[in-house]
Amino acid sequence: MERQLRAEDINFSQALAQEQEKDIRVIKEDKINSFKIGKFIWNMMPFLFAFVTLSALFVGFRLREYAYFTAEKGVGYALGIIGGCMMLALLLYPLRKRYRILSIMGDVRAWFSLHMVLGIVGPVLILFHSNFDLGSTNSNVALFSMLIVSISGVVGRYIYTKIHHGLYGQKIELGQLKNKLHDNQSELTALLHFNPEIRDELFAFVDHVLSPPKGILHSWGRVMSVGIGSRRLIARTRKNIQTGLMEKAQSEQYSKKEIKAKVRKIIKEVRVFLDGACKVVELTFYERMFALWHVLHLPLFFMLVIAAIVHVIAVHWY
Ligand code: HEM
Repeated sequence: MERQLRAEDINFSQALAQEQEKDIRVIKEDKINSFKIGKFIWNMMPFLFAFVTLSALFVGFRLREYAYFTAEKGVGYALGIIGGCMMLALLLYPLRKRYRILSIMGDVRAWFSLHMVLGIVGPVLILFHSNFDLGSTNSNVALFSMLIVSISGVVGRYIYTKIHHGLYGQKIELGQLKNKLHDNQSELTALLHFNPEIRDELFAFVDHVLSPPKGILHSWGRVMSVGIGSRRLIARTRKNIQTGLMEKAQSEQYSKKEIKAKVRKIIKEVRVFLDGACKVVELTFYERMFALWHVLHLPLFFMLVIAAIVHVIAVHWY
């Protein structure tokens, strides 16, 4: 009787443990699912933001003839002030980034997001303030400087993502990419010992595309052509390796399966090597572009500041 009771106890605690395990699994799955949904919504935010912004611009532009807003008074005037303040507030990002002492302001990435949002919402409000119309010369200069700086910001954002791991990630280091390429080169040297011509052709191609470009256009040309060049080279390498290995098949006693596996392994390594070279070429180009963008963006920004100050003084004094 006692033994039977103990057996029932064991069965009961085993069933309980199984139930608990099931519950934990369900909770874990729920957490993973809600994390996925949260991530999906977060990833959709830029599209939603772009959609709302473009719709607002479209509606504002189509309704401009009804002149719901006037720049001189009421809501139109308020929109001008709010938009202007937003553009002043977005300057907190470059300040936060430059001056370590401002680290008390919080995460630099959050300020960067805010910078981009304000850099779009501010100009949209100013467009509503101007009722999508041109005015006096000083207002037009201020309006166009603002639009140019804002569009330039969007272009800068595109280039920025090309030289960082994502929009908020670390800067991609050219040196690291080159070191990785060097490691791949050593591996390929060993793998292609049986066919030095193929190896030399690959290394010559990479040396050529990594030689310093003559200018930004040359660098851009390389970005455009390096992918096609490397795909062609991969096809040619595959053919040459296959023929090379077939010729060796008898003396080395390779089976067809072995040859296939060897070709696959070598081509995989060649792909990694050439992909690495493409990345170096791209990064070289986008780093130059970003430096150029900075050189253009800052004077445009100062032009905007001067135009905005002149505009504010002019409309209040005359
Ligand atoms: C009228 C609106 C805007 C103004 C006045 C403005 C102003 C500035 C200023 C002063 C800088 C610092 C430049 C430097 O450090 O050399 C900057 C950087 C930047 N802005 Fe804007 N911006 C505006 C809109 C935008 C928009 C709409 C975007 C993107 C959607 C954007 C993206 C960027 C990026 C990617 C950087 C460089 C970030 C970095 O180097 O860390 N900006 N902007």
